Amino acid sequence: MKFFIDTADVSEIKELSSSGFLDGVTTNPSLIKKSGRNINEVIAEICDIVPGPVSAEVTATTYEEMLKEAEVLKEIAKNVTIKVPLTWDGLKACRTLRNDDVLVNVTLCFSASQALLAAKAGATFISPFVGRLDDIGLNGMDLISDICEMYSNYPNLNTEVLVASIRNPNHVIDAAKIGADVVTLPPNVLKQLISHPLTDNGLKAFLDDWKMTGQSIA
Ligand code: G3P
Repeated sequence: MKFFIDTADVSEIKELSSSGFLDGVTTNPSLIKKSGRNINEVIAEICDIVPGPVSAEVTATTYEEMLKEAEVLKEIAKNVTIKVPLTWDGLKACRTLRNDDVLVNVTLCFSASQALLAAKAGATFISPFVGRLDDIGLNGMDLISDICEMYSNYPNLNTEVLVASIRNPNHVIDAAKIGADVVTLPPNVLKQLISHPLTDNGLKAFLDDWKMTGQSIA
């Protein structure tokens, strides 16, 4: 399973990329706003830090305008992945960009039928939002199961399931159990993945005992 990070905060990305766990980055207009940075500058910096796919989202709503924005974004770096919304214009833009071998992430997916259309449009990634489905009382992970099951019936289909809108470590575990290709993690959830009080307590006890032996290894 690939780990992407869902942020436009360059310092967080630098810190977490040094761990060697980051396979890519996703951003969206809200995350760019939160960063307070210019989109072209921040995407360029992120692409310098992380060699994997870096999603930059178009903000136009028509096919022609989306392609114009994609032209600008894809010039930033070769690992830029154009993120388009799950609309007819977005899917049409996806098909055109994929015909030119541009990586495309189709975002704002909330149903299996939408995911099927994105795959038919040749999307590199489909981004179903699990947390936002949970927020309205539905089960986001059921959608991941449905999409993975559906895609697995068609081995020629190369669209990767990128689980987005992740809220907690259980979302990551559940997505991995289902076999989703990618999770995009908010930085706090990535950090939570390692936490366990028994690890902290166990390490403390080992180190306290070790100190009492008076030995040193190196
Ligand atoms: O980047 C898309 C997605 O991960 C957004 O998550 O927390 O705003 O629902 P959230």
